[in-house]
Amino acid sequence: MKTDLPHALDAAHYTDPAQFQREQERIFRRTWQYAGHASQLNDPGDYFAFELHGRSLFCVKDREETIRAFYNVCRHRAHQLVEGSGNKRVLVCPYHAWSYELDGHLRGAPGADKVPGFDLSSICLTPARSEVLGGFIFVNLDQNAEPMDAWYPGLASGLEEFLPHLDRLKPVYSRQVEEQCNWKVSVENYSECYHCRRNHPTFADGVVDADSYDIVPQGYCLRHVTRSVTPDALSYAVDPDSHPRALDYTSWFLWPHFSFQIYPGNVLNTYHWRATNHRSTQVVRQWFAVDGVESGTLLRLAEQDLNTTVAEDVRLVESVQRGLESGGYRPGPLIINPQGGVNSEHSIKALYAWLTEAL
Ligand code: FES
Ligand SMILES: [Fe+2]
Repeated sequence: MKTDLPHALDAAHYTDPAQFQREQERIFRRTWQYAGHASQLNDPGDYFAFELHGRSLFCVKDREETIRAFYNVCRHRAHQLVEGSGNKRVLVCPYHAWSYELDGHLRGAPGADKVPGFDLSSICLTPARSEVLGGFIFVNLDQNAEPMDAWYPGLASGLEEFLPHLDRLKPVYSRQVEEQCNWKVSVENYSECYHCRRNHPTFADGVVDADSYDIVPQGYCLRHVTRSVTPDALSYAVDPDSHPRALDYTSWFLWPHFSFQIYPGNVLNTYHWRATNHRSTQVVRQWFAVDGVESGTLLRLAEQDLNTTVAEDVRLVESVQRGLESGGYRPGPLIINPQGGVNSEHSIKALYAWLTEAL
């Protein structure tokens, strides 16, 4: 065999806690990460707190209806400002009652008027970079990061092409699994369909036409494209005339932790990975409907997906992790077809390149 063929990575990439620490610093805190959905922030003052790789943050809608992200820490002596979610007219710190406007500016600090030279207007909460894309709020802890459009070119227009009511979509179902594996095992498994026919009969026979499956790198995005199976073979009803893209399946995997996925019938669903530690990963699946209203098809689809594709993938990735930890793994060559296609792992090679570049 040609020895210069691209090979899989050494097991240590998936088993070493020190590498995971480096990835937190060099990947998770320097890339666009999903924070939440705009439908969680309907009115000015609505907020929700969230954790991003060991950092505590929150999003809030200000009086001008701009969605902002801040580190969840008071500028006085570091108490956290908010917990959970809710609505506030001003953000008051529970410790010594410093209060902040919804745009982050300090509004009042008890006793400060007696302090010579104290300048309220010079103090503001620490912002985090954020972007709202079709209602999806992403945050990047790197203040100098390139905008999302540079990372994932064509994403916004692509989503609009498939989802005519993108701005009206709301999450209606959320399903979550814990995978006992390194996040890269899960993401790599998501990023190839070489394993689909053998392992995902429902997906490969009842959703997509696996023969037409391909994955194309596009910036730091892996774009999955395929036709659906014929309408009568679909595991749920789709009106083929409802939209020019009604019989297509596509997804945009956004390095490193999120994917927009569109099922036949223009059904948006998402994957959100959260790496817990070097051998445990949380995967959240969400399903979206226009104005949050659906007739029952989406619920059946969400359940079908959880009980078939997701459950099948959990078994695969946990077995791979055990294999990586066996002590006997010697990396094998990737199957890369220069023409691409369903049986090619060129997308895995792209993931390795992004990993190597970041580390
Ligand atoms: S730490 Fe927030 S007011 Fe003192
Ligand atoms: Fe899979």
